[in-house]
Amino acid sequence: MKLHLYWLAWILFLLDNGVSGVDTEGVSVNKGDSVTLQTSVETNQQEEIKWYFNDTRIAQISGDLSYICTDVQCNNDTERFKDRLKLDHQTGSLTITNITNTHSGLYDLKIIRSRISSDKIFSVTLSGVSAAEQDEVKKNQGEVVTLDAGEIRKPDDSMMWYFNEILITEITGDQSKICTDVQCNERFRDRLKLDQQTGSLTITNTRNTDSGEYKLLINSKSSSFNISRVKRFNVSVTDSGLSSGAVAGIVVVLLLVAVVTAGVIYCRRRRYAPVQTDENNANHSPPDPKGIPLRDTGCP
Ligand SMILES: *[C@@H]1O[C@H](CO)[C@@H](O)[C@H](O)[C@H]1NC(C)=O
Ligand SMILES: *[C@@H]1O[C@H](CO)[C@@H](O)[C@H](O)[C@H]1NC(C)=O
Ligand SMILES: *[C@@H]1O[C@H](CO)[C@@H](O)[C@H](O)[C@H]1NC(C)=O
Repeated sequence: MKLHLYWLAWILFLLDNGVSGVDTEGVSVNKGDSVTLQTSVETNQQEEIKWYFNDTRIAQISGDLSYICTDVQCNNDTERFKDRLKLDHQTGSLTITNITNTHSGLYDLKIIRSRISSDKIFSVTLSGVSAAEQDEVKKNQGEVVTLDAGEIRKPDDSMMWYFNEILITEITGDQSKICTDVQCNERFRDRLKLDQQTGSLTITNTRNTDSGEYKLLINSKSSSFNISRVKRFNVSVTDSGLSSGAVAGIVVVLLLVAVVTAGVIYCRRRRYAPVQTDENNANHSPPDPKGIPLRDTGCP
């Protein structure tokens, strides 16, 4: 009895994993990612590479490049991928750019060599998170901005930050670089910090010239597929929060105004003080400025 159960389990295991022993690889991506499924071969004249998505042929390349097709050219189906497929002519690897929900499913790679076909299946699933949206970040001048990469960096991931398309920081392996070119260095001199663990970028003492688009490009490599992910941040730094120089200027102006006002009030009081003493004397005639002895104090 025990032996029977053992065999039953073994058969179920085989069924579950494909009796033919097809190698299946799980690939989890975010919406908007670009994923490259690798053939791990260098094509030579003898091979033919075919890609199927849920059993529909979506790409094919013959070793001698005499026949190449992608998407709707390979089948008369609707244009499911719309310019999203790229086929590497050297390796036959397939790239799906800007992936969306309709592209999750089974990608079957068939490599046909001397009439013998070998299969590999990539099971592509989308997580709910969309990396493609742009985050809006608003700060006042002088504040600190942290742009969160939003993930834990894997050791083989490379991460690159761009400011308005200029490369500003780069992490590859355990190496990181900040502002390697002059233009970047002048703009951000000592104001950028990069978190090696997460790839998050911090800009200190922000200026309004730091406003613009920050783009993070993450490349994740595994043995049989690559995922590339882009995150965008639209940063606007406003100078309504005043810089220390402006604050100092305003304080000086306010002090001057206060001094002048105090002076005027003081002068006026001194001007009219004698008039009030006149009123106390029941003299109801209007004050005669000429008769005030304190007029010549230099007050305007
Ligand atoms: C990605 O695809 C969506 C629609 O599926 C489209 O709205 C968006 O513009 C595309 N993004 C890029 C960068 O092509
Ligand atoms: C492809 O197949 C997967 C799993 O078999 C299924 O979830 C998905 O909806 C299918 N996609 C299309 C576009 O047929
Ligand atoms: C960034 O935000 C500003 C103002 O909020 C807007 O004017 C600008 O078009 C945005 N840029 C992009 C690339 O979305």
